[in-house]
Formats: sequence, structure tokens, C-alpha cells
Amino acid sequence: MRGRADAFANICDGPRPLLQKNLFMSSLAVLHASQLVTLTGPRRPRIGPELSELGIIRDGGLLVRDGKIEKTGPSDEIERDVGDAEIVNANGRVVMPGFVDAHTHLVFAGNRLDDFERRARGETYQQIAKAGGGIWSTVEKTRAASDLDLLAQAKKHANWFLHCGTTTVEAKSGYGLTVEDELKILRVLRQLKKAMPLEIVPTFLGAHAVPRKLTPDQYLDVVINEMLPRVSAEKLAEFCDVFCEPGYFDIDQSRKILSVAKKLGLSLRGHVDQLTNSGGAKLMAELGATTADHLEQTDEQGIAALKKANVQPVLLPGSVYALGSSRYPRAREMIEAGLAVVLATDFNPGSSPTPSMPMVLSLACAQMKMSPAEAITASTINAAYSLNRGDRIGSLEPGKLANFAIFDCRDYRELAYWFGIPQTHSVYVRGERVAW
Ligand code: NIG
Ligand code: FE
Repeated sequence: MRGRADAFANICDGPRPLLQKNLFMSSLAVLHASQLVTLTGPRRPRIGPELSELGIIRDGGLLVRDGKIEKTGPSDEIERDVGDAEIVNANGRVVMPGFVDAHTHLVFAGNRLDDFERRARGETYQQIAKAGGGIWSTVEKTRAASDLDLLAQAKKHANWFLHCGTTTVEAKSGYGLTVEDELKILRVLRQLKKAMPLEIVPTFLGAHAVPRKLTPDQYLDVVINEMLPRVSAEKLAEFCDVFCEPGYFDIDQSRKILSVAKKLGLSLRGHVDQLTNSGGAKLMAELGATTADHLEQTDEQGIAALKKANVQPVLLPGSVYALGSSRYPRAREMIEAGLAVVLATDFNPGSSPTPSMPMVLSLACAQMKMSPAEAITASTINAAYSLNRGDRIGSLEPGKLANFAIFDCRDYRELAYWFGIPQTHSVYVRGERVAW
């Protein structure tokens, strides 16, 4: 009989991290980065011109003790304090904070190859969903999967993130849509967090679609009166999210769910104005949400409402690209309005099957006219603040966790410029090498 560990070894075919987290932490000195991209700056999300200030140290170095950054500076200064620390020579490569991916659907079973092929033939996301594909088809596969299978697939996805240079992800439930199946996904996330060095921030997205056989109002009752109390009692999520869109959850239903979640102590995020401009951004402003995500259809009034309520927009160009649309969110107007823009992958099997933040940087620059520097800020320090972790991750500053990536290029702009080719050299979480 095979034990659990053997079963994992056979199912999980992704590359394994070299070290597990929370092992003995030693000292480390990284020297000779062509650019040490520190993102040093005010202790809050960056807005306007601040998005372009990366705090670069040329021929930079970094001293790490017990998993935390002790010091950054020019290599010769760091070298003087090396002591018995292990030395990592970055050899003229770029060193920067690990990407913080603030919007993913990391736990699901299977794929959506049929949807992909139908879209290539010209069908839309909504048409495919009506014809039996879409979120519902992933729900059926996810319900049928055992905890062990889901965890194995989640580990494979987590390894993809690490190998793209991402060290923290937000991850949502939403492919269960019954009390037990939603809790199953959140518990898999909890197990994943223990098993992998990737930092995970869990979000409850029970309101992702209305399950077959239930009316929207019947399901609303399940989400509010059965799921949310369990999620809160078991402390399974930090955030609550809703897919606020005609045909999924309308403004009033979304308001009801998010208001109850807020009372239970969860912070709020929302899939809003993705397919239609239905007032979702304004709802997120009204509720004092932490983020409003997607926003492809949001107009200037929606942007003004987000600014007034200090809500961070999370832009997901990977899903616009993969759905074959050309309607990207208005990133420039948002930056000019003073919003603390965040970029994320929206990794999921339907609308955005990519774990790659460098791909998202490329799309942000080419399609949304963000500069490479703005895109880096949006995917590190601003993303960290959007997960209530701006004081711990997202920049290379003394006292923060030593979560960083070394990229095989000399100039940070190369990360957004070359696309379709991995440039990750190595990745560190809490000072331990975890990928490559
Ligand atoms: O962010 N819009 C809703 N949720 C996902 C898509 C999920 C899916 O198609 O499986 C999104 O695009
Ligand atoms: Fe999403």
C-alpha cells in the first residue's frame, strides 16, 4: 500500500521547491545586482508619478538574516557586513521583490480546452457558458476531484507561480458552489500554504456563479446564511469576493453578500464591470472595498468613485487577451486620477490561463500604455498593499521578508520587453532559495 506522500509524488509532476518554509534560517548576502530594484518609498500604496520611482541601486546588494532583509545598498557596502553569510553573486542580473499576484483562482480541477477552441472559432465567453462550458464546467470537475487530487494540481500551479518569480498570491475559492465544496477548496488552500513556500492569501468567492437547480435568491441565501458563517468561524479566508455581472450576481445581490461579509470581519474585493458597465466600481466604492478588480468597462464616473473611496483597482490584462477582446481597462486615466493601480494575472482555467506576471507586464505596457516602471510597482508594492501586507512584502527594505527574484537580464525593462521567454534565474522566499 502506498502512503499519502507517495501518492503526491506520483500525481504532482511539477518541479519541486528545493526547501520547505520555516526550516532553519541562515544569513545570505546577494551581491552585484546590475539593478537592485528596491521600490523604497512612502509606507503606503504608490500613486501618480510615484509609480515610476523604483528606488534602483546600481551594482546593488542585499543582506538577509533570519528570513528578513537587514540591509540594502551598493555591493561594496554590503560586502563589508557579510560576516559568515552565504554569498549569492547576482553577476550583473536584475534583483527585485518577488511579484505579488493579487488576483488568482489557483485551485481548480482540469482545464477548459474546449472553451479555448470554441473561442478560437469565434464564440464569446457568455455564449460558451450558456452552452455548457464556462465556470460551471470547472465546478463539475472540481466537485468530482478528491482533496488529494486538488492539492496535487494546486501544488503544480504553485510551482508555476514560483518559477515565474511570484512569491505571494491571493487565491480564491469559487469552483465549488456548495457549502462543502467551497470549504474543500479553502481547506486545500490552507494545506497548500503549509506545503509550499509560496505565500497564499485566501479569498472566499462563493458568489462566482449560480449553481444549476437553484434560483439566484435561493443560492444567495446559502452564501449568506450557510457559507459565510462557516468561512468566518473556521477563519478560512481574509477577503470576500463576488462576480458582480448581469447573469451572475447583480448589484443588489452583490451588495447583500459583501455587506454581510464585511460585518463578519472580512475585507472586500470584487469582480466588477468586466463584461458590462453595470455600476460595480461604484458599489465597491460605496462598500469601502479594498479592491475593485477587472474594470474593463468602467467609465470616468466609476474611476472618480474609486478615487473618492480610496479603492485600489486590480487590472487583469491577461483575461482581456485570452478572451480575444481588445477592451482593456483605462489604466492611464486611473493613474492620472491618482488611483494606486495593481496588476495581476487572474490565473484561472477559463478566461486567463497564465500564472506569468512578466506576461502581464508585457500586456500592461503594450496594450494599456503603462510604463515598465509603473507596471513593476503595480505588481509588487501596490499589490502587497492591496492584500493588507504592504508593511511585510512588496519592496526590498530593512525589516521586510526576504522574498525576492533574480532575473536573467541587466535592465528591469527587459522583463516587460521580451515576452514568451522565461527570464527567471532564481527565486527566494524568506531568504531560502525555492525555485531554480
Ligand atoms: O476573473 N469573471 C469571473 N471569474 C473569472 C473567470 C473564471 C472562469 O471562467 O473560470 C475571471 O475572469
Ligand atoms: Fe478572476
